[in-house]
Amino acid sequence: MRRPLVAGNWKMHGTRASVAELINGLRQQVLPADVEIAVFPCSLHIAEVFGGLVGTGVTVGAQDCAVDPEQGALTGEVAASQLQDVGCALVLVGHSERRLLLGETDAEVVRKFAAVQSCGLTPLLCVGETLAQREAGKTLDVVGAQLASVVEALGIEAFIRAVVAYEPVWAIGSGLTASPEQAQQVHAAIRAQLAAQSAEVACAVRILYGGSVKAANAAELFGMPDIDGGLVGGASLNADEFGAICRAAGS
Ligand code: 13P
Repeated sequence: MRRPLVAGNWKMHGTRASVAELINGLRQQVLPADVEIAVFPCSLHIAEVFGGLVGTGVTVGAQDCAVDPEQGALTGEVAASQLQDVGCALVLVGHSERRLLLGETDAEVVRKFAAVQSCGLTPLLCVGETLAQREAGKTLDVVGAQLASVVEALGIEAFIRAVVAYEPVWAIGSGLTASPEQAQQVHAAIRAQLAAQSAEVACAVRILYGGSVKAANAAELFGMPDIDGGLVGGASLNADEFGAICRAAGS
């Protein structure tokens, strides 16, 4: 059985004061023991969040990393090895905001995915289509190509220790959530694509849904057979709401 994972992507939000408040709020939540929970603060706050959540079982991740795993002369970047050093266990790679707004390519996503794994951390690969691509009937082609670029470069074994997140771009921060059926269709296609190379890897890999997940719609989404949890943006900035989403993923 796949253990559900609920991940909170805090994006470029937070001050020292608001982060301290959020840590405090999370510490007060009753969190389900059968769900893995992770939060992804901005790099500035990772060490503080890691320290603040010690003993809660909540894992801390990073939102991005450099394409090279080791430290070096690369102004402004953060290496996966540095993230490992401050307590990160997971790193998001290929978030649509980075692909679309910052021009991150599939080739860079592949290098970041590999860099994360080479430091012993787990990559959380984000894939998803825009509204125009969905309306053109290209959802499965787009998502399939994003996934294929990693599988072809690094092999199916790379997914033994990785997580995939399906995040339709049109559902992110828009209040528009994919219906459970729409999401399930894409999740099943992602798993089938991996199963074509290894049924065992496909069966074990967790595929999260992201895009306007909130406490009110989480249980319905997480009830679908191929949805193994959520990647939560806006709602993860509210400890009570995030706690409720985590509980919705529990049995
Ligand atoms: P929202 O939950 O705010 O739609 O963001 C989703 C997301 O992009 C998480 O990575």
